[in-house]
Amino acid sequence: MRIVLVGPPGAGKGTQAAYLAENLSIPHISTGDLFRANISQGTQLGQKAQEYMRAGKLVPDEVTIGMARDRMEQPDAADGFLLDGFPRNIGQAEALDGILRESGTRLNAVLDLEVPEDEVVKRIAGRRMCRNDSGHIFHVVYTPPKSEGVCDLCGGELYQREDDHEDTVRKRLEVYHTETEPIIDYYKAQGLVVTISALGKVSEVTRRAMEALGQAA
Ligand code: AP5
Ligand code: ZN
Repeated sequence: MRIVLVGPPGAGKGTQAAYLAENLSIPHISTGDLFRANISQGTQLGQKAQEYMRAGKLVPDEVTIGMARDRMEQPDAADGFLLDGFPRNIGQAEALDGILRESGTRLNAVLDLEVPEDEVVKRIAGRRMCRNDSGHIFHVVYTPPKSEGVCDLCGGELYQREDDHEDTVRKRLEVYHTETEPIIDYYKAQGLVVTISALGKVSEVTRRAMEALGQAA
């Protein structure tokens, strides 16, 4: 299956993607994670991306689209993938259509995670990420690790993302509304959008998502 996951910052895209990718046996491709990996490795691409991410703005398309395309062309993505955080504006959605057309494939569904704004703010404020694995995501109140600051799954150090501070979060939400939300209508016109509520327990949201994707397949 080829799936796009869309939803505001803090909706739970990364959290759900880890479970959905495993259930569906497809790779989880997150442009945010790819940028963060480039930043920690000190690559040129990472240096370019960092200033935009710090400001809560989108990294320019000419950087993002090539990086996403390279990842989608890896052998493990030949039979499907779960895109998280890409596309993020109409230009990227059109570029993705072109990439899929060239490879003779198409999207199966766009899964839209709906969460009220006050909830995403709470989710982001308490988020802690593992330095070893970007799929190991905790929340100090909702899903706390057994010992503070340490990942339950691998023992790695937990940290707070640089762009998870209040001002940047406000900017990211604004960018989501103005630049990313329009892709939902773009995909609605193609009949691809399935919307679910992302409120409730993580496992409950995964169950809802699997059911919605089953109907979309
Ligand atoms: P990116 O990394 O994609 O961030 P985002 O879209 O803002 O989304 P988040 O990672 O903040 O949230 P999430 O929905 O994954 O939530 P999570 O599962 O962690 O992008 C970062 C930046 O990179 C962008 O601002 C931009 O600069 C750049 N970028 C990336 N892609 C780009 C692109 N295509 N083009 C241009 N620029 C790009 O969950 C959040 C918290 O909630 C966690 O603590 C989690 O434990 C908790 N939680 C999750 N589910 C539940 C639940 N059901 N109940 C209670 N708590 C929950
Ligand atoms: Zn970990």
